[in-house]
Amino acid sequence: MKKTILFLALMVESFFVLAQTVSVKEKMQQLIKDNFALADTQYRYMMTLTAPNKMPQTYDEKNNKLDARDITWWCSGFYPGTLWYIYEQTHDDIIKKEAERALQVIEPNQTYTGNHDLGFMMYCSFGNAYRLTKNEKYKDIIFRSAQSLATRYRPSIKAIQSWNKNKYFNCPVIIDNMMNLEMLCWVSANGGDKKYEDIAITHSNTTIKNHFRSDYSSYHVVDYDLTTGQVIRKATWQGAANCSPWARGQAWGLYGFTMMYRFAKNKVYLKQAKNIAKFILNHPNLPADKIPYWDFEAPMIPFAKRDASAAAIMASALLELGQYVNATEKNEYISAAETILQSLSGEEYRAKAGQNGGFLLKHSTGAFPFNSEIDVPLIYADYYFLEALKRYKDWYL
Ligand code: GLY
Repeated sequence: MKKTILFLALMVESFFVLAQTVSVKEKMQQLIKDNFALADTQYRYMMTLTAPNKMPQTYDEKNNKLDARDITWWCSGFYPGTLWYIYEQTHDDIIKKEAERALQVIEPNQTYTGNHDLGFMMYCSFGNAYRLTKNEKYKDIIFRSAQSLATRYRPSIKAIQSWNKNKYFNCPVIIDNMMNLEMLCWVSANGGDKKYEDIAITHSNTTIKNHFRSDYSSYHVVDYDLTTGQVIRKATWQGAANCSPWARGQAWGLYGFTMMYRFAKNKVYLKQAKNIAKFILNHPNLPADKIPYWDFEAPMIPFAKRDASAAAIMASALLELGQYVNATEKNEYISAAETILQSLSGEEYRAKAGQNGGFLLKHSTGAFPFNSEIDVPLIYADYYFLEALKRYKDWYL
């Protein structure tokens, strides 16, 4: 009798778990459809506000002005990349034409060697274009861009130099740099020289060694001495303090090590990504809607500004990490990503059609210590938000 009751209880529980899963999936399916439809409307509007030789970055609500930047700004690839993500779901030819036009504008960046951002600029853009069109010209441009990025590899420090020497830093390497490695790995995996992946692996190993604290949060900047190869100091640029966990930096690290595991299949990278995820998801200052404050130790919490861009990057990364782990961990990561995507799709974070300069998301923070881009839309928040929605649709629906 006891056994029968236990069996029935288990059946009832399984039924409810299944019903709940089905209803979450249905909700996510609708949410994804709605977001891409809105993105199509918004970016058709943004196109009309964008000067021909500039790439949208953010929107100044007070003056009702789209802020678009020169093509060497690190974000120039996100506009065409976002357009490709939209086109992939909506098959809207107007969006495709604008994506192709924007690619032409940023094409000269392939020989740019002024900083480490070539991966953001040329892979988020041409990478998606090539994935969807298989146009060999795009592949050539990615290969040329990898060559340019590799010129910044410094053997003495076993890493790519992020920014040039300036009055604050000698040879700075920032955690964001992990993101630019995807282009290098992709080129090696697609017929290019193996040296690019070797550089990415060496850079990742150096980052594990020098960028992380014992709780798996990361410093924003590690400054090196190029002659001795030694670390000079560990600091921040966009965070609240040298030792505080700047939210987007934690997101770049999570995404970067998950991506490196995809290519290199080194369990050390998987472990690193899981530990970063643990730091983020268990942090007492992560709000219930899982949209982090701009720094996990920002002054004024709970009144500090949020960073929707960090949340979007985290969601996209967690969905990929969910592919490489056991069922319990996978459920935890997917569930956190669902919360983020649902929060970002709500009234508070998502713009209404025709508003927000055509951007989808509100409430991102670019560089709080410089009083720059605080509580505004940012092009890369939209990019990673749409990427996360695509990943959810491809892998979990
Ligand atoms: N430095 C790139 C960023 O703001 O995340």
